[in-house]
Formats: sequence, C-alpha cells, structure tokens
Amino acid sequence: MNEMIKTNDGTNTLFSHKYQQYFHDIKVGAMNESLYKHIVPAFSFHKNKKSLRILDICFGLGYNTFVTIYYILKNKLKVKLEIYSPELDKDLIDSLSTFKFPKEFDNILHIINSLIKTNKFEDENMYIEIFIGNAREYIKDLKNINIVYQDAFSSLVNKELWTYEYFKDLYKACDNDVILTTYAIATPVRLSMYKAGFEIYEMKTFYKKHTLAFKNKQNINVKYIDMILKQSRNIQARALLD
Ligand SMILES: C[S@@+](CC[C@H](N)C(=O)[O-])C[C@H]1O[C@@H](n2cnc3c(N)ncnc32)[C@H](O)[C@@H]1O
Repeated sequence: MNEMIKTNDGTNTLFSHKYQQYFHDIKVGAMNESLYKHIVPAFSFHKNKKSLRILDICFGLGYNTFVTIYYILKNKLKVKLEIYSPELDKDLIDSLSTFKFPKEFDNILHIINSLIKTNKFEDENMYIEIFIGNAREYIKDLKNINIVYQDAFSSLVNKELWTYEYFKDLYKACDNDVILTTYAIATPVRLSMYKAGFEIYEMKTFYKKHTLAFKNKQNINVKYIDMILKQSRNIQARALLD
C-alpha cells in the first residue's frame, strides 16, 4: 500500500496511498525534517531537563522517535526519556522490518527491532511504547508531557488530529513547560491550537516556516504569532472543529 521514496537528504520515506501524501517533505528530507523541525527545537528548549516525557503523534516510520535517540546519543545528553507514540496502522509497523532506515540508526537497531516486534523498548535510560490504536483515545490517559511532536498527515486528510477538541485534550495531557513542534502553519490549524490554550510561535528552517506552541508566552528568539491580530485581519478564518 505504501511506496518507498528517497528524499533529498538521501534518507527514505513512504508515499501513503490511503492518505495520498508523503510521510515526509521530500525536498527537506526525512531525517532533516525530523531533526530540524522537531528534535532540535524541542531539545534546545528543554536543554537542562534531566527527564522528559515525549508524545510522538504519530509513530509512522518512527523517525521522530529514532532521531530523538540518535540526537541524545550523538550529543551525549544525560536525560531519561519516556516516549509514548500512538499509531493506527499495525501493518505499517510490521512492515518496518524491511524498511531501509538511515545508517545513523545502525547503533540503535536493537531498539528499532524491539519496537517492531513488541511495540515496546525499555532499558535504564528510556521507556518507549507504541500504542496501536486511535491517538484521540490514547491522549486522554496521558499526563505531564514535556514535548509533543505533532506530525500527523495534513488537516485536509487527517483532520481528527488537528481540531480544537483534539488540541483541548492534548493541552490537558501536557505539563506547563510543554513545547509542541509541527510543520503545519495553516491559520485554521493554529486557531485550533490557540483556542485550546496554546501560544503560537513561528520558526524558519530550510526556507520553510513551521510552528512551535507552548502553554505560556516565552522569552525566546522565535517569532510570536498574535492570533487575535491574525484573526482580525482574516475574519473568514476559523478553528477546525470535530
Ligand atoms: C505523517 S505520518 C507520521 C510520520 C512519522 N512521524 C514519521 O516520522 O515517520 C502520520 C501517521 O499517523 C497515523 N495516523 C493517522 N491518524 C491517526 C490516528 N487517529 N491515530 C493514530 N495514528 C494515526 C498514520 O497511520 C501515519 O502513520
């Protein structure tokens, strides 16, 4: 059902025939997208924390989870990790046993294999679980999340993971110091987040804008997006609803 494609940074991704979308931005590259839109902003923000609870929405090919581990090992970070990741498609997880991952993951193959076989991995420094099922239900039972990688397919085809009601449940699952990272920049998506309580910020990487969100306003060197002003300039724009 899914077709493997090489992206511009040399790493592989899939095209989903079900959603009619690529799992990653082909021009930016799968590894680069994960590293620079999600992992680097999240770990720069939380650089002093000794333990982190991460929600990876959704597991897909697992890049965001695997690049997180790669980044921690490469930078010798002393941080204990818990990663929680829902994924609807069990066949996709099973198929990852033949997926060609980047060579950067060679030393974490034991973790990848355990996740594919048992949907879990645990050692003294990390606990990772893949929940096979709907993220909408799964997030209702989570608490104290410090990082959210919000990486569903786009709202055109995967709307249930971009609505106001979804972000309201997500907000409850998050700690006060949460950072949410996402490639999405559309005003309706940002309004869904904002109306659920998140403050919206914007970064630019590889000439492309992407969004960060927090529970509170931040004193950081990233552009703040005033959603009240934005909506007053675009009165047709609406948050997405279930
Ligand atoms: C863009 S892909 C995720 C890419 C992933 N972060 C990666 O690095 O490979 C979106 C994933 O969300 C899954 N998905 C879509 N809707 C879902 C839902 N309601 N609950 C759980 N998983 C869902 C899809 O099956 C797909 O694997």
